[in-house]
Amino acid sequence: MSIKRIKPSETWQIRHDVMWPDQPFEFVQLEEDNDGLHFGYFVEEKLVSIVSCFIEGDEMQFRKLATLNEYQGKGIASELLEYIFKLAKEKDLKKVWCNARTEKKSFYEKFNMKDTHKIFSKAGQEFTIMELLWQ
Ligand SMILES: CC(C)(COP(=O)(O)OP(=O)(O)OC[C@H]1O[C@@H](n2cnc3c(N)ncnc32)[C@H](O)[C@@H]1OP(=O)(O)O)[C@@H](O)C(=O)NCCC(=O)NCCS
Repeated sequence: MSIKRIKPSETWQIRHDVMWPDQPFEFVQLEEDNDGLHFGYFVEEKLVSIVSCFIEGDEMQFRKLATLNEYQGKGIASELLEYIFKLAKEKDLKKVWCNARTEKKSFYEKFNMKDTHKIFSKAGQEFTIMELLWQ
């Protein structure tokens, strides 16, 4: 296995298939994608999990973390998260945050992320903002 930097366009298929299969393909193509850092987790050359990071000032938002269904539950997204948290620390950032699907809250809490209880809905999905702060 390996984690590699990937192009924005390489994230779109997994984003669509895993997260928003009922939306048009363009729905997962973000205007901001060209400003992001995108990482992929590969198993024998096959891209199986993705995450996209957007840095502004001393904060990083990660978005669209997704693992192909048949590769879920093996610790792959956890490794990707550890990887980007390390990257944020190396860059001396103070905060990493995400809009988490509320049903995934406990997954992020395992990484010490805290629920800010800022809740909102988009496309029929409820989200809460989760954050990890460094002093
Ligand atoms: C959320 C998501 C990205 C997690 O990806 P994943 O690769 O399955 O993540 P992990 O395997 O690291 O962790 C998943 C679960 O397996 C557990 N796990 C971790 N390592 C494990 C291992 N080696 N063996 C078995 N289970 C393991 C984790 O503790 C976690 O448990 P939880 O869901 O009860 O918290 C994935 O389910 C997904 O793509 N979902 C659809 C899209 C989505 O909802 N994205 C997040 C939006 S907020």
